Amino acid sequence: MSNPIPFEAIPHARLPALLRTMPKAELHIHIEGSLEPELIFRLAARNGIALPYPSVEALRAAYAFTDLQSFLDIYYAGASVLIEEADFFDMAWAYFERAAADNVVHAEIFFDPQTHTARGVPMEKVIRGLHHACRRAHQELRISSKLILCFLRHLSEEDAFATLEAALPWREHFIGVGLDSSESGHPPEKFARVFARCRELGFELVAHAGEEGPASYIETALDLLQVRRIDHGVRCTESPALVERLARERVPLTVCPLSNIKLCVFPHMSRHNLPALLSAGLCVTVNSDDPAYFGGYLNQNFLALFEALPELGAREAWQLAANSFEASFVDDTVRADWRLSLDEVFRAAAQPG
Ligand code: HPA
Ligand code: ZN
Repeated sequence: MSNPIPFEAIPHARLPALLRTMPKAELHIHIEGSLEPELIFRLAARNGIALPYPSVEALRAAYAFTDLQSFLDIYYAGASVLIEEADFFDMAWAYFERAAADNVVHAEIFFDPQTHTARGVPMEKVIRGLHHACRRAHQELRISSKLILCFLRHLSEEDAFATLEAALPWREHFIGVGLDSSESGHPPEKFARVFARCRELGFELVAHAGEEGPASYIETALDLLQVRRIDHGVRCTESPALVERLARERVPLTVCPLSNIKLCVFPHMSRHNLPALLSAGLCVTVNSDDPAYFGGYLNQNFLALFEALPELGAREAWQLAANSFEASFVDDTVRADWRLSLDEVFRAAAQPG
C-alpha cells in the first residue's frame, strides 16, 4: 500500500488547475446534448433543413429553461438536423475533442435512437456514425468510450422493444441501455419487461431517476429494473432510508450540476446537495448531461460546483474522480491504472513550490 495522499498540503489556489488536469471519466452525457448551435446550423445547411431560428445567436438565446420539459422540446428540435452517418460522427467527434481538453480518459455516452428513427433515419447510420467517432477517439485522443442506448420514457414500452430489436444487429457497439426523457408520470415500472429482456441479453442497465421524479422512482429503478447506476438521483435525499441504502450498496449517482441549475432542480449552485451526498458516503460522480445546452462541458461543471461550494476541496475532487472510475463499466485492471494516475496527479499537487 502506498502512503495516503496529503490532501491538506494542497494549496487551495491550486484547486482549479487540479480540477482541470485530474484524469476523470464522464458517465452521463447525452451525445445529442453536445450538439452546439454552430454545428446545428452547419448540419442544417448541409442537409437542406430549415431552422425556425434566424441565427446561432437567436437559437442560443432560446436556451432559457424552466424545467426538464422546456429543455427537452428544444433538444429534440436541435437533433432534427442529424440525418447522415457523417452527422452523427461529426457530433460525437466534436464532443471527444472537448472531452480530451478536459482530461476525460473514459466516456460512457448515451444516445437516443428513437429521436432519429422516428424521423426515418436508419438505426445503422446512428450507431455506425457514433461508433466510428468512438474508435477514432481511442486511436487519436486516447479516450476509451462505450455507447449506452437510451429508451425515451415518454414513448411506450412497445416502442422501446421495437427499438431494441432494431439495434440488436449492432449490439457489439453498445454495452448497455438507459432510460431518459420526461420523467414525471413515466415511472421505471413502465419499462420493467424491456429492461428484463435487456438483462437477459447481458446489457448493463442504468436509468434516469430522481431528477424531477420522486425518490420512489429511484427505488423502483433499482428494484424493478435492477439498474447498476442511477442517472441524477439527487432527489434521493427526500428519503433518508434510501440515502442509507445507496451508501451501503455503493450505487453510483451520475450527478450533473450545471444541468440541475439550468433546469431549476436547485435554485442556485450554492444550494446543490452534492456535498451532502458525498458526506453521506454515496458514490457520487460529476457529469455534464447536455453540455451544449447547459453552459459547459465536464470541467466547467467541476469548476462551477467547487466555486459555489467552499466546503469542497482537494479531498472531494479526488473522491469524485475516483468515484467516476469506480462507477465505470470497465475491467478492474483498467480502473486500477486510472487510479494510479489520479493519485500521482494529487501527490504532485501536494509538493511544495
Ligand atoms: N433528463 C432526462 N432526459 C434527458 C436529459 C435529462 O437530463 N437530457 C437529455 N435527455
Ligand atoms: Zn441526462
